[in-house]
Amino acid sequence: MTDSDPNSHRRRPRYSGTHPKKYSQKYKEKHPDKFPGLHEHLRAKGKTPAGTHVPILVEEVMGTLRPQPGEIVADCTLGYGGHAYQFSKRLGPTGRIIGLDVDGDELDKTRERLKKIEPALTVFRKNYAGLASVLQEENLPGFDIIFADLGVSSMQVDDPGRGISYKHKGPLDMRMDSRLRETGVDLLQKLSEEDLSAALKDLSDEPDHDKIARAIVAQRETQPITQTNQLIRLVFDVKRLTIKDWKAQQQQKFNTLHPAARTFQALRILVNDELGSLRQFLRTAPQCLNPGGRIGVISFHSGEDRLVKQSFREGKANGLYELISGKPITPRRQEVMENPRSSAAKFRYAKVSQESKVPSPES
Ligand SMILES: C[S@@+](CC[C@H](N)C(=O)[O-])C[C@H]1O[C@@H](n2cnc3c(N)ncnc32)[C@H](O)[C@@H]1O
Repeated sequence: MTDSDPNSHRRRPRYSGTHPKKYSQKYKEKHPDKFPGLHEHLRAKGKTPAGTHVPILVEEVMGTLRPQPGEIVADCTLGYGGHAYQFSKRLGPTGRIIGLDVDGDELDKTRERLKKIEPALTVFRKNYAGLASVLQEENLPGFDIIFADLGVSSMQVDDPGRGISYKHKGPLDMRMDSRLRETGVDLLQKLSEEDLSAALKDLSDEPDHDKIARAIVAQRETQPITQTNQLIRLVFDVKRLTIKDWKAQQQQKFNTLHPAARTFQALRILVNDELGSLRQFLRTAPQCLNPGGRIGVISFHSGEDRLVKQSFREGKANGLYELISGKPITPRRQEVMENPRSSAAKFRYAKVSQESKVPSPES
């Protein structure tokens, strides 16, 4: 067997230091069964171990949606299964959890991780915009609880191969669902300057939206933007910032937003049509709830929260919902310190009445 033999087995080079920075070096974090105590140690330091996700606002979600033994819960953004696990503890063996997610790779791992929970989990690789069709497939009249924790999971953010985060060097793919046809690279290549500018303004409140859009269009004429570091460099150039300036800003103010964060957010929302799916989900959700059913949504930016707030208010005005939450519930200081990724979270909930006669989605 020679090195050029495609079947030859070569060991992956192992990181031998004590402070792994790259995702590929964090193999210990990805195998917690072999390294007991490591996850607890990292979480105590406010870090999310690679390949995991810490569920947000658990007490608040469970305290308001109040899952009861025997109920049916649709967890529309299953992710790592953190919230699903918490629901399962309250539903008992007679309840049901139906989990949806578009991310096929993570869905398989989560199904495996949660295979011993009671009640058993039924999993669909499906966009939550199509929640109503799950009722038909499962021959159910409705759900008692519909829950969605929007946006991306830590596993997706931390994986450099997905290009979702400005923190890692990688291809600008950005798809949560690998079945989608267009990646971030494709959209940066094809969208008009006007559309790019509008997306940066509307989806992430980027103050330099017009300049960044112009720079993208100018740059792609000579070289396509395919990598995260190319897009970051472009944003820094537009904002006339150097890495040194940025580091100085960070030292002056803790938790300062990265200059490219808004650009990355807007592109990710576009690639995954996040607001389109959310609108459709919010439109059909009341029809998918049983009498007395509850819906809860955690959102992470103003565009999402606005849609949830409007939909719940309209639902209340039209008599679809009997009760809606007032101000959004946000994480306590302690949670933000322990899990900084929770800092932007906003949770809202609504309830349909016991006498609800909302027509079912099929009728
Ligand atoms: C913030 S994570 C959820 C984490 C989960 N609550 C937990 O405790 O592990 C969001 C998840 O929603 C999924 N997702 C995003 N948009 C979706 C959509 N339109 N339909 C279904 N799943 C979606 C993502 O793939 C990701 O896994």
